[in-house]
Amino acid sequence: MTAIERAVSILRAGGLVAFPTETVYGLGADATNSAAVEKIFLAKGRPPTNPLIVHVGSAETAKRFASQWPTAAEALAARFWPGPLTLVLPKSPQIPAVVTAGKESVGLRVPAHPLALDLLRRFGGPLAAPSANRSNHLSPTTAAHVRDDLGDSVDLVLDGGPCTVGIESTVLDLSVEPPRLLRPGGITREQIEGVIGPVTYFEGAVDPSTSASSPGLHLRHYAPRTPAFRFERDQWPEVAEILKRHDPRSIRLLRIGQSPVQGPAPFFTELLLDVPLPNDPEQAGRVLYGTLREIDCSGAKMILVEMPPAAPAWAAIRDRLTRASRPIAELRG
Ligand code: TXA
Ligand code: MG
Repeated sequence: MTAIERAVSILRAGGLVAFPTETVYGLGADATNSAAVEKIFLAKGRPPTNPLIVHVGSAETAKRFASQWPTAAEALAARFWPGPLTLVLPKSPQIPAVVTAGKESVGLRVPAHPLALDLLRRFGGPLAAPSANRSNHLSPTTAAHVRDDLGDSVDLVLDGGPCTVGIESTVLDLSVEPPRLLRPGGITREQIEGVIGPVTYFEGAVDPSTSASSPGLHLRHYAPRTPAFRFERDQWPEVAEILKRHDPRSIRLLRIGQSPVQGPAPFFTELLLDVPLPNDPEQAGRVLYGTLREIDCSGAKMILVEMPPAAPAWAAIRDRLTRASRPIAELRG
């Protein structure tokens, strides 16, 4: 029996299979089997109020699980599927309430990964799959990350190598007018607007004490274990002052490329361990979570994040780094 065949039989029997996608690894269960889907929430420690994305093998299959399929969905699916775009649409009755956390909408996506598509095609049905990490941990971008995080609570991990996008899909709500971007990701807002015209976006994370329309938007959702503090490039003078009160050897400086440190800080940066991210949004996305995981294992006490430029191409990475950190001002006291 091949690994895929085992995966299919586990899924048919109501088990959990972690599988690679181009974004991050997913923790999959038969989306039409409520008992199987409940196991996902248990394995992740995920609050039952946070809906899951349903993965399908084609746009044709996606249509079966949405009760409406607007022309915007048709156009976006034609342009970006398979790919890192999740479309939120009114759900069909075939999707049980546990998948959507009781919401009347469902997030649908066709992943662009040969192993995921092979699995979906052979399984034949929809797979509910959140990222294959414990709730509030970083999303996994390798099979080893999944095993580290979920261990025995997953029946099988399909290894498809490192994910090529590395951050989660863009989530776009098409159940409202105008469409609303819920999570920036591999497909940019500009790419979407190029196909369907203007969409709205509430920038900035949602306060966890309020009930968000998309609970995955909550602050602190994508954080490393090491406390992380972010600042913009022009805040270096402030950062230098703050650093005087900390042991620089226990700090990692995460920043894009080898961007020159600005302001009167060189003395400190010589002592900081510089962790560069590639100076290209796609390449940086690919290594972001792995880099944060490595820092978590390094014994560092603190991460300082120099934010990438506030340019559209960096929007998804800025979003994840914002969720992974607190403003540097909170470090003052
Ligand atoms: O790239 C990805 O999207 C990965 C791979 C595995 O496909 N999956 C992923 O799933 O990131 P998860 O569960 O970690 O994030 C799903 C996000 C959450 O922010 C959730 O709140 C939102 O999608 N979401 C899912 N269904 C929704 C719905 N019906 N309405 C609003 N938001 C929804
Ligand atoms: Mg997740």
